[in-house]
Amino acid sequence: MSNHDIGVIGMGVMGKNLAYNIANTGYTVSVFNRSKNMIMQSLLEKPIKRVFPYLSIQEFVNSIRKPRCILLMIQAGSPVDEIIQTLLSYIQSDDIIIDGGNSFYIDTIKRFNFLKEKSIQFLGVGISGGEEGALNGPSIMPGGNREAYTLVAPIFESISAKYNKEACVQYIGSDGSGHYVKMVHNGIEYSDMQLIAETYSLLKNLIGMNNIDISNLFKEWNQGELCSYLIEITEKIVRKKDVDGNFVLDSILDSASSKGTGTWTVKSALELCSPCSVIAESVFSRYLSSMKVNRMIASTILFGPKIFLDKSFDTEVFINDLRKSLYLGKIISYAQGFFLMKRASQNYNWNLQFCNIAKIFRAGCIIRADLLNDIVKSYNENNDLIDLLFSPIFQDISNTYNASLRNIITIAVQNGISVPVFSSALSYYDAYRTVNSSANLIQAQRDYFGSHTYQRIDQSGTFHTNW
Ligand code: 6PG
Repeated sequence: MSNHDIGVIGMGVMGKNLAYNIANTGYTVSVFNRSKNMIMQSLLEKPIKRVFPYLSIQEFVNSIRKPRCILLMIQAGSPVDEIIQTLLSYIQSDDIIIDGGNSFYIDTIKRFNFLKEKSIQFLGVGISGGEEGALNGPSIMPGGNREAYTLVAPIFESISAKYNKEACVQYIGSDGSGHYVKMVHNGIEYSDMQLIAETYSLLKNLIGMNNIDISNLFKEWNQGELCSYLIEITEKIVRKKDVDGNFVLDSILDSASSKGTGTWTVKSALELCSPCSVIAESVFSRYLSSMKVNRMIASTILFGPKIFLDKSFDTEVFINDLRKSLYLGKIISYAQGFFLMKRASQNYNWNLQFCNIAKIFRAGCIIRADLLNDIVKSYNENNDLIDLLFSPIFQDISNTYNASLRNIITIAVQNGISVPVFSSALSYYDAYRTVNSSANLIQAQRDYFGSHTYQRIDQSGTFHTNW
């Protein structure tokens, strides 16, 4: 009987690449897929060193060393529950099931508790980095029982991305915390992408830059503080030509879909009363983008200003403002994401270590960016930091760059170019720093129509006025 180090269920591209990554680092890996797909077929015909395909789940399970570690790389949702049910007939106490998909964290909490009753360990693990990351080193966010994690930690540490030789994997916390952190990672990913898209829109539609110049600009920006994976790939995307010599990007439909993690982030923010407007606006922007037919109708009946840049418009100044706005927008989005994780940590008793989370985001994952070094520094000094924007580094940047954000939004609005996430970031920033907001009126209105009572600034207690 074999004694392989780990099993992987789900031979889609992500599962295959992770299995190869595990094998490449010297571990033996059993693999199983519900159907004999092309990947399984190819593995059976052309064996890969240390990767062992099985067509029967029983043989697959029996081939793994005890306590067995079984990594699920399958579609989130009911397929995960189905495979867990199947596995329960073959595995035994102390075996470890690891869900490496983008599962909803509440499902992970339920599965964790369900399996705990059966003495089966369950880890919900966020894995980021796409297909390439899975093969060459993803960022890994494991949640669940710490002792169970300790058993698989050597494998995860060897397959993960490395930042200055440091493995981009850290135990996150109990039950659903790993999937929660991955979910917020994706929420930040949404706003990062949308901010870059709005920047591209202004460069293209407002100042009429061509693809090559836009790409060169992103390349230049990627040498500075904006350096990140998403800027790097955008530079390449914008300049890529089709076989016919036209830019690929120019032929792609402006309608972006989503698989749900951004929506979950916003739902969680609503439940935890955590203002996550920038991420929410990014999700809504995708929804609006996919309403292509309505937008085509609207474009013929709803009018706005024509693009007009007067003589005083300075392209160089605008581009510089845009770079700073992109950076500040990104910081505000990260601040909202980390604030949300702080609320979740308190709510679910996860004791999240934000410095570690920022550290594992620095390589392998989609939102990897130089900015994360300053986030690491900020939380390293104080894990209880009230807000990322309160750390001296980000205070300074906000105070210096907010004027640029104001400038680019003003110009965009005057010219009828939609910049929902830039605008949302600035509105949040301005609302946040407003000591006396207009919510006194909201309180009064609630009391007027519903006797909901209100608090006063000059006396404690609750009050009602006969309006
Ligand atoms: C990652 C990505 C990955 C996936 C997103 C895409 O970290 O590797 O986030 O998980 O690309 O889930 O999400 P949408 O389809 O919702 O854009």
